[in-house]
Amino acid sequence: MARMEDFFYRELMKYLALAEQKRRWNPFTDIPYAQANPESSQTLAQCVETFCAVEMYLPDFTSKMLHMIRRSRGRSWFHINWGYEESKHSLTLEGWLLASGHRTEEQREAVQAALSTLEWELPYDHPRQMVCYTMVQELATFWNYRNLETIAAKEKDLALITGLRIISVDERVHYNFFRNTVKEWMKWDEEGTIHDLKYVFDHFSMPGRTQIPGYDEAAMVLAKTGIYGPREYIKLVKNPILEDLKLDKDFHRIESEEERAQAEAARKAALEASVERIDINGHAVPKSEIGKHPFNSHAVSQVLENLKPTRGRKPELPATYPNGLKRSAFLDVVGIEPHVRSEPSRSIILDHIPDKLAGSRGMELMDNTLNQRLLAIGDELSNNAEEMREERAQIRQEREVTRKSRVKNDRLFRKHEEGNS
Ligand SMILES: [Fe+2]
Ligand SMILES: [Fe+2]
Repeated sequence: MARMEDFFYRELMKYLALAEQKRRWNPFTDIPYAQANPESSQTLAQCVETFCAVEMYLPDFTSKMLHMIRRSRGRSWFHINWGYEESKHSLTLEGWLLASGHRTEEQREAVQAALSTLEWELPYDHPRQMVCYTMVQELATFWNYRNLETIAAKEKDLALITGLRIISVDERVHYNFFRNTVKEWMKWDEEGTIHDLKYVFDHFSMPGRTQIPGYDEAAMVLAKTGIYGPREYIKLVKNPILEDLKLDKDFHRIESEEERAQAEAARKAALEASVERIDINGHAVPKSEIGKHPFNSHAVSQVLENLKPTRGRKPELPATYPNGLKRSAFLDVVGIEPHVRSEPSRSIILDHIPDKLAGSRGMELMDNTLNQRLLAIGDELSNNAEEMREERAQIRQEREVTRKSRVKNDRLFRKHEEGNS
């Protein structure tokens, strides 16, 4: 475990340095949302909505895993950063749905509310199984977006093509992080790791399956378009992963004796390099890390450029668009208005949200005597029965006083009326 911890921490540092230097992007300014095609098909929008819905379970993906791995500095910090990167994926997809005019701000809110009702639970209870699961999931997601892009390209939607391309890079980097972790684990516990991997493959299903309204119909649309279905899962996800890990379809290691000896020598060398430290100002710094990440002056000037204050105050925007629909906060930040579509676009999720429970308004009045009786029975069965009994007696007394005074007032009123007539 200590060796794995060392590995995770090292991988985290490399990952963060690379991400900060090369992979940071801005979901508000790097996607040309205005170039979303207002004539794109509703099938395209349904696919985007399904993927966006999966990404919307981020609060569960992050919080539940974080509890499991909180003691690992490398894994937990990676996970937090991974969560930040994933958050931009749903923002971008949602932004496209709004900009293309496929969904209104009201529909976005309704989908969000529907998705938040059910929680996603961890499908496996061991951290290593969760790493295997996330690895599979990341590669599946990568192919989902790549395949979706072919449809976006056919429909000439530059905004979606750009978004999907940037997101796919993130997904590929995520897959690699998890795949490297699985490989490292295989070095220290090959049998156990392969066992976990097989278990995950045998029980794999995409997140959101039981939470997203209308998931079956949405999955059918994805399969029909050839974006993702059982065939793509085997061809693009399961087989390549087994190949990457040098396993055959029965999860047996494919390796010659020579390769095994080479791997063992490399593992030993890596271990020796990882423990070699040099002293810098009293800190034991790993020798292998020295001088790896040079000072990046371009990045600094970029940051300083971004920090320049913007002059003037932006005018206050009205709450709705001229057609009366609610403004999108996302598109306001991007600085564009949604396209107006010639045909309405159908949301699978919104069509499958179960009918809301009827509220109290309009509900038939219950028998009040029965209500009072049940209240009394409940009170008598409570810890503070005596107190409740006294309270009820007091209410009865007050009601009696009100009733008597009402009767007296009625009588006086009638007398007065008779005197006038
Ligand atoms: Fe993602
Ligand atoms: Fe990802």
